[in-house]
Amino acid sequence: MGQAKRRVLLVFGTRPEAIKMCPLVNVLKAREDQFEVSVCVSGQHREMLQQVLHAFDVVPDYDLDVMTPGQTLFDITSTVLLGMREVIERDQPDIILVHGDTTTSFAAALAAFYLQVPVGHVEAGLRTRNLRSPWPEEFNRQAVDVMADIYFAPTGQARENLLAEQKPPQNVFVTGNTGIDALATTVRDDYASALLDWARGSRLILITAHRRENLGAPMHEMFRAIRRVMEEHPDTKALYPIHMNPQVRAAAHEELDGFDRLRIVEPQDVLDFHNLMARSHLILTDSGGIQEEAPSLGKPVLVMRDTTERPEGVAAGTLKLVGTSEQGIYDAFSLLLNCESAYEKMTHASNPYGDGHASERIADILVATALL
Ligand code: UD1
Ligand code: UDP
Repeated sequence: MGQAKRRVLLVFGTRPEAIKMCPLVNVLKAREDQFEVSVCVSGQHREMLQQVLHAFDVVPDYDLDVMTPGQTLFDITSTVLLGMREVIERDQPDIILVHGDTTTSFAAALAAFYLQVPVGHVEAGLRTRNLRSPWPEEFNRQAVDVMADIYFAPTGQARENLLAEQKPPQNVFVTGNTGIDALATTVRDDYASALLDWARGSRLILITAHRRENLGAPMHEMFRAIRRVMEEHPDTKALYPIHMNPQVRAAAHEELDGFDRLRIVEPQDVLDFHNLMARSHLILTDSGGIQEEAPSLGKPVLVMRDTTERPEGVAAGTLKLVGTSEQGIYDAFSLLLNCESAYEKMTHASNPYGDGHASERIADILVATALL
């Protein structure tokens, strides 16, 4: 007699969670004999989430539609918590899966915990151990791991972090990061675009920035440093797909407008963004997910943050933590443009975050592991 199907509810709400959860949604859905799958999006991001759902052809069963312009952590936490109570009561899942470190994930896990529904944490175990950096993500990921029952750690280091916190070893699995599954489907040799045409013949710099703790003075310093370095290097062009946060937009336009070799463009579809990454000379970012994707593509990343929960990419040589001061970024960026050997050292492709099969592993574990 076959095992009863597992009812799995996946919950996510922002662009990066969607990029990393949609491959898993599609793998679980393909195993019709093993899983009944529902998807709930919080809508913490609106437009940037829709872009990803469309790219992976995922249609949510529930949409909490919580986003408001300039939303606060209070808004997201309270609306997701209340919304998830209703969804979980209606859907009656055997387990809910949340991802990473967003406030959607924290509030959804809390709702499941209150209703005594098991929680699986995808991308569990990342740590800076500094609750203020990244803020509030370090709290979110630690809090989800306090509530979780099954841990899908992307790397051996993440598993070690969880075991050091006395999580039960039999429930902590190393799966790789599902973001790398996504990358395997998006980067194409024959990719072409008008933006690439514009940049042809120059060294292409790719920029993103959005972290809450960098809003304000640090973000202005970041942009000033980038502009100064690029003004000194006429053979560079930059593309900056800008986050939709109005505070980010205001700072970027204030510092970067009027400089023709740097183009601020709207958030790119994931397929476009991954292909731009694959063709860039180097990347400047404060993003988490980009730190995981870049090593697989062998693209140097200057991480404009004071801490990283992704030490594997630093050890692999692809990532360099450069802080958020204007001079620190100026020095590190200039060095990579001026010194070929410093640049070369950061271009070796490696796969510390996975081999593209994380979602399959998670599906196998979900079938084999006893739930509460
Ligand atoms: C959120 C996550 C962060 C993640 C990031 C990825 C939290 C607290 N923050 O931060 O962990 O790294 O997403 O990008 O969970 N906006 C739109 N349309 C969109 C998306 C955002 O207009 O599609 C604007 C809205 O005004 C919104 C603001 O951006 O209020 C901020 O969005 P929010 O999700 O609160 O913060 P992020 O910085 O995006
Ligand atoms: N990304 C994208 N379009 C863009 C910029 C980024 O699809 O214009 C992708 C990127 O490849 C990575 C993810 O979005 O997979 C990172 O999202 P973000 O930086 O917003 O969040 P974080 O990873 O910092 O939580």
